[in-house]
Amino acid sequence: MARVKPVKVALVGCGAISKAYLRNMTQKFSILDVVGCSDVIPERSKSRAEEFGIQQLTNEQIFQDPNIEIVVNTTYPLAHYEVTKAALLAGKHVYSEKMIAVTMDEARELVSIAKEKGLRIGMATDTFLGGGLQTARKIIDAGLIGEPLSAVAMVIRGYHMRGEKETEQMPFVMSPGGGIPFDMGGYYLHALIHLLGGIKRVTGFAKTREKEYIYENPRHPRYKESFKYDTPNMLVGVLEFEQGCYGTLTTVSEAFGETPRLEIYGTEGILICNDPNTFGGPIYLKRNNGSWNEFPPYEIPLTHGYTDESRGLGVADMAWAIRNNRPHRCSMEMGFHAFEVIHGIIESCKTGKVYEMTSKCQRPAPLPSGYISGTYAEACLDN
Ligand SMILES: NC(=O)c1ccc[n+]([C@@H]2O[C@H](COP(=O)([O-])OP(=O)(O)OC[C@H]3O[C@@H](n4cnc5c(N)ncnc54)[C@H](O)[C@@H]3O)[C@@H](O)[C@H]2O)c1
Repeated sequence: MARVKPVKVALVGCGAISKAYLRNMTQKFSILDVVGCSDVIPERSKSRAEEFGIQQLTNEQIFQDPNIEIVVNTTYPLAHYEVTKAALLAGKHVYSEKMIAVTMDEARELVSIAKEKGLRIGMATDTFLGGGLQTARKIIDAGLIGEPLSAVAMVIRGYHMRGEKETEQMPFVMSPGGGIPFDMGGYYLHALIHLLGGIKRVTGFAKTREKEYIYENPRHPRYKESFKYDTPNMLVGVLEFEQGCYGTLTTVSEAFGETPRLEIYGTEGILICNDPNTFGGPIYLKRNNGSWNEFPPYEIPLTHGYTDESRGLGVADMAWAIRNNRPHRCSMEMGFHAFEVIHGIIESCKTGKVYEMTSKCQRPAPLPSGYISGTYAEACLDN
């Protein structure tokens, strides 16, 4: 449906999540023309290239190709900085998986290179562009919960209890920049910033509970072997939003099971959002002393599309933004702000002082509503 020239894109880092990106970027968004993919392990890029009918390339070939405008960085967090920096220096816009880098210095350097060169950095997560959290935004903006006063964001996981596949597939969750505050915190912070705006001050506690673990699950192939954590795996933070709302952010990978919570409490109502790691799912609204109302964006053609797994939606939004010369929604400012929140909480825990945020961030523009199905849905990005 693109009436404008599609944007040529290449993906670097052909691991687990690259499959969803490549599937959606090749099939869902006409604005994206996916040229090829690369990986330091060539078998991986070969396999993805064959699967999606694109070229197997090297990083250098991608950086040198003058036609490629966006590099999608789906490497693991320890490689985000080097790949993003190399792509920016080669003159490419970059859309990177969370988070922008490992250290604040690296992140600041990337932001400054992008600004100096007039290039864009787009930052995952993009789930807040999905039908669920866009509907939540519409509810808040319509005043249905009155003035938001407090927010609860909580993700509890049990990585030490995981089965045979997960810890093998995601070793980065134990490495610097990849622990649950960075890995999962990004979904919750982007959702909170989208709903409530920028954050002024943070404080809290963070620690690495056990630095060495034994695989306890008898079904795990490395049963009884040990693994090491080199990143916080427990963080509880308090957030003060610019608009006055208070919030808490809890990210723990040391408990049992999977608990995603995102709740906003206002002067006139309560909004319980879908899991911010998903694009859709029911959301619940209770107003005054009334009963709970369910908003299933699946069934009610109420507001927005993209309620299914749509990773890559942020890349498509950035591509439309490039062509239409407007800001992209998964912005560098938002990604940097979320990254600073986590670092600020860790810093506050060390110093015992409240951390004043140095970065500012506006709420991204909501997606226009009404574009709910099929290729028609993409028209919501063309504005
Ligand atoms: N796995 C998931 O479910 C999931 C979901 C959403 C987002 N993410 C995010 O996506 C990113 C990647 O996660 P993943 O699970 O796919 O990791 P992964 O380890 O499976 O894949 C990363 C790939 O990047 C490659 N790589 C590393 N350095 C490189 C370099 N310099 N040049 C080229 N390739 C390089 C690796 O060889 C590997 O194939 C992470 O930031 C993660 O937070 C993952």
